[in-house]
Amino acid sequence: MQIYRFDTPTLAGLRRHEAPIPRPQRGELLLRVRAVALNYRDLALLEGGLLQPRLKGAVPTSDAAAEVVEVGEEVDDFTPGERVIGLFHPRWLGGPKRRERAIGSYGYDRDGWLAEYKVVPREAVVRLPAELSDEQGATLPCAAVTAWNAVSGVGPGQTVLTLGSGGVSVFALQYAKAMGARVIATTSSAAKAERLRALGADAVINYREVPAWAEQVKALTAGQGVERVVEVGGPATIGQSLQAVAFHGEVVLVGFLGEAGAPLDYFELMGAGASLRSTNVGDRPMLEACVQATASAGIAPVIDRVFAFDEARAAFEHLASGRHFGKVVVRVGA
Ligand SMILES: NC(=O)c1ccc[n+]([C@@H]2O[C@H](COP(=O)([O-])OP(=O)(O)OC[C@H]3O[C@@H](n4cnc5c(N)ncnc54)[C@H](OP(=O)(O)O)[C@@H]3O)[C@@H](O)[C@H]2O)c1
Repeated sequence: MQIYRFDTPTLAGLRRHEAPIPRPQRGELLLRVRAVALNYRDLALLEGGLLQPRLKGAVPTSDAAAEVVEVGEEVDDFTPGERVIGLFHPRWLGGPKRRERAIGSYGYDRDGWLAEYKVVPREAVVRLPAELSDEQGATLPCAAVTAWNAVSGVGPGQTVLTLGSGGVSVFALQYAKAMGARVIATTSSAAKAERLRALGADAVINYREVPAWAEQVKALTAGQGVERVVEVGGPATIGQSLQAVAFHGEVVLVGFLGEAGAPLDYFELMGAGASLRSTNVGDRPMLEACVQATASAGIAPVIDRVFAFDEARAAFEHLASGRHFGKVVVRVGA
């Protein structure tokens, strides 16, 4: 079978290799990978990024949809032909997130999914409903679950702020609208603003034209600020987010899209009056809930572009360009 590895931790270092098809052991599934979705994290693990992979030369990517082709001994809950998606944290099956449950992170300390076949424990996948295509299913394990987690509990009469139009933010917009909340989104261009409005954003602010966008958010919320901020920008955006959140609101710390930004001021942090919550994707029940909600509410994951398996490097380059809107996917096989 064909797999990709980062022979060097650079985009140019992504190369195809031949490898034997693995065999499933007791309790495991042999999967034919159908589609893989990329995340900012896959770039952050490269040279110059903020994450340091533990396994050098790992097969990259954390998110995939696949078909069961063979089951190991004692597997009585999956049959060949069923479609599944993988858990982002294959060992976090529920309960509080303890360190040992975060071990085994694809593309970080174990091989990921950019391969034609993969063997995983049967607990590390959930079924993909018929309403969702392979490509759509592949987008769910990380970005969708994180967004689902970040907007959980919001509802009518509340406003959610999303930042940019990457994978997590677009899912957060879709879920928040489905839950009846109002959404204010920021983005970098008029064309992306139009697409965010088409997905239901009630107001969109261009953060390049309006660097102090928190003032506009306040004006759009009668001076109160928003109940929920899905904070994906990190140092670049946290200062504005703290000014944009309501006293009774919550800033969900999801990620970072760069290191530049003013240092966080303790008094500003405390003065915001809001709660801060860190996320780390989610556990298995959260993935199951997110998948079911996406299918039953008729939410179509927004896929910017699907690349062929032999174009995988171009897919990474497209993600790195920041031109995408929503998710970038690689199709594996026909
Ligand atoms: N903690 C967790 O559980 C978790 C889970 C998933 C992801 N994350 C993290 O969340 C972050 C986003 O991930 P992703 O995969 O959604 O990224 P992504 O798809 O690569 O999104 C990047 C987009 O962010 C926008 N952006 C860039 N700089 C910005 C800025 N200064 N202000 C506002 N928007 C900006 C751009 O959209 P526009 O052109 O529209 O501005 C860009 O296209 C990453 O740090 C990732 O590691 C964390």
